[in-house]
Amino acid sequence: MTILVTGGTGYIGSHTCVELLNAGLEIVIIDNLSNSSIQALNRMKEITGKEISFYKTDLLNKSEVERVFIEHQIEAVIHFAGYKSVGESVQAPLRYYHNNLTGTFILCEVMEKYGVHKMVFSSSATVYGLQDQTPLSENLPLQATNPYGRTKLMIEEILRDVYTANQNWSIALLRYFNPVGAHSSGRIGEDPNGIPNNLVPYITQVTAGKLSELSIFGNDYPTRDGTGIRDYIHVVDLAEGHVKALNKVMNSTGVNAYNLGTGSGYSVMEMVQAFEKVTGRRIPYKVIDRRPGDIGISYADATKADVELSWKASRGLMEMCEDSWRWQKNNPNGYKEELVTLSK
Ligand code: WQD
Repeated sequence: MTILVTGGTGYIGSHTCVELLNAGLEIVIIDNLSNSSIQALNRMKEITGKEISFYKTDLLNKSEVERVFIEHQIEAVIHFAGYKSVGESVQAPLRYYHNNLTGTFILCEVMEKYGVHKMVFSSSATVYGLQDQTPLSENLPLQATNPYGRTKLMIEEILRDVYTANQNWSIALLRYFNPVGAHSSGRIGEDPNGIPNNLVPYITQVTAGKLSELSIFGNDYPTRDGTGIRDYIHVVDLAEGHVKALNKVMNSTGVNAYNLGTGSGYSVMEMVQAFEKVTGRRIPYKVIDRRPGDIGISYADATKADVELSWKASRGLMEMCEDSWRWQKNNPNGYKEELVTLSK
């Protein structure tokens, strides 16, 4: 069975491709490499010993997308490709709407043309917006609070309309909480461009001495230590969830949303303490004002994925930290190091 993975050289995409290959599936990757490295592709082949068909193309290029469906017998699509920075989306909303929505329109049009009606879509817990209750369950009203989140929410709604119009479609909407960690080999991981927006890559770069100190965005939230609580989930658990969701869509029709989280949360301070324990290094930090748009507490009700996908996260906080740190230590400049080496 051949699976098309859009955005397959990205952080979550690459980890998912490794699990798909390990499950014996053939994969084809479309990625424009706008926010990822071709090195990730080489590392995936190294880890799995498998071949991967790769197309460096943009979903906005319809003829190039169609070429993939002509050259391969695609049976399902896992759709990761899209811009994903909340802050950037506030500054450049039209760029986000055009890229994320038009790319999805083109993908779905080509899928429809070639009779491919199975999709796993990379959504986000950001579609829950500012809820005053936790844990967050799939049937809560949705309310994105930034253009990035609105693209995810709109795509979820668009995919529901696509199914209403043609009930051959089978779609899983996977709402990620906070993906962290890396493959245990230390060969693939999160490789943010520039200064990391997210907590864990920022912590690992402070620990490695690339950044001087962590700024903690507020310690006046209604939490056990005043700092924000999030549902951090190991990226390999997340990847395994995609394999389970793929199995579900291959054997059903309809549109279903699933939270991919652990069902529990850790505060910023608890994450700092966990990294200090794992690395044996002190992490310098200062507390500053809250980050605009941040919520205090967010963690998943993860029971639906457990019941319907037979999936639940199994990797704990220590493993998340150990694997994040190994990736940082072994790849101080992410994938760029090797590219520099290769270019000599
Ligand atoms: C986690 C906690 C911060 C950085 C974001 C996106 C979301 C999703 C996951 C795509 C919060 C605190 C952070 C720092 C800090 N991405 N923090 N100092 O905001 O929960 O979710 O990534 O789908 O859409 O919004 O993740 O890692 O940025 O923050 O104190 O330098 O760490 O306040 O409490 P977030 P995060």
